[in-house]
Amino acid sequence: MRCSWWSTSNFLFFPVALLLCLDALRLSNRIILASAGPMCGCASHFDVLMDFFNATGGPTWTIRSGWGASLASPCTTSSWYGVTCVDGNITSLDLSGNNLKGTLPPSLGNLSQLQFLNLYINRISGTLPASYGQRLVSIQQISMHSNQFAGSLPDSWGALPRLTYLNLDFNRLNGTLPGEPWSTSSLLTSLSLNYNSLSGTLPESWGHSMSTMTYLQLTSNVRHTPLCLGLELGFVDASGRSIV
Ligand SMILES: *[C@@H]1O[C@H](CO)[C@@H](O)[C@H](O)[C@H]1NC(C)=O
Ligand SMILES: *[C@@H]1O[C@H](CO)[C@@H](O)[C@H](O)[C@H]1NC(C)=O
Ligand SMILES: *[C@@H]1O[C@H](CO)[C@@H](O)[C@H](O)[C@H]1NC(C)=O
Ligand SMILES: *[C@@H]1O[C@H](CO)[C@@H](O)[C@H](O)[C@H]1NC(C)=O
Repeated sequence: MRCSWWSTSNFLFFPVALLLCLDALRLSNRIILASAGPMCGCASHFDVLMDFFNATGGPTWTIRSGWGASLASPCTTSSWYGVTCVDGNITSLDLSGNNLKGTLPPSLGNLSQLQFLNLYINRISGTLPASYGQRLVSIQQISMHSNQFAGSLPDSWGALPRLTYLNLDFNRLNGTLPGEPWSTSSLLTSLSLNYNSLSGTLPESWGHSMSTMTYLQLTSNVRHTPLCLGLELGFVDASGRSIV
């Protein structure tokens, strides 16, 4: 990781590349007509998604077409809005800007084939479920900026084996940044935590071992504490005014 990549600007990194990637996924999405079977665990996907729907105010989502419409698997022909399947496995959930509110249910961690989770620009609150760190073993990109998540960045998320991109800008995360296992995360290239209430210093181990990190943003967090091995960054002061 190179501290020189840090910026004090209020630049917000929107996941353009991710959106392109998701479009590509949708185009290549192969819809499976076969009934739910043990091969893909489709039968349980229905409950997992309905749990999520219920926990995030599904009835008041802006768009909810397909959701819970029948007892069919979300991966059959009647597609559920924002759900992408490949070979009967849910690989992507994209419900950004869809008026979600509530909390993230632990059962979402059952989607072991999920690669992309886009929930940005909603009003989801509560903490980031630590259990996802052990269970979302296929997750590559998580974008949940502009919500109301509180609590700390879970240590366990640093162990997600495929995670390359995580954007949690504009939330209410607090506490300090975890050391292990984040510092040994082998694929993470982009981590964005702007506009939260994080404090403390950047764990020194990050500087030593996060070799893949090329994009790290931590501006506008509380305190004036240097977060990057002595490099002074711009933060908001305790009253929330930007001093950048
Ligand atoms: C779907 O998931 C099953 C395990 O749940 C796995 O064996 C299979 O390879 C997955 N399919 C794809 C395309 O990843
Ligand atoms: C999620 O997985 C757990 C453990 O495998 C299981 O007990 C639970 O019923 C599943 N939840 C849903 C909603 O499918
Ligand atoms: C979701 O809520 C509906 C209505 O409250 C309920 O009937 C259903 O069992 C719930 N589903 C899950 C998976 O919790
Ligand atoms: C983070 O915020 C929660 C509630 O908002 C609070 O209970 C907790 O003490 C805070 N933790 C830290 C380290 O500030």
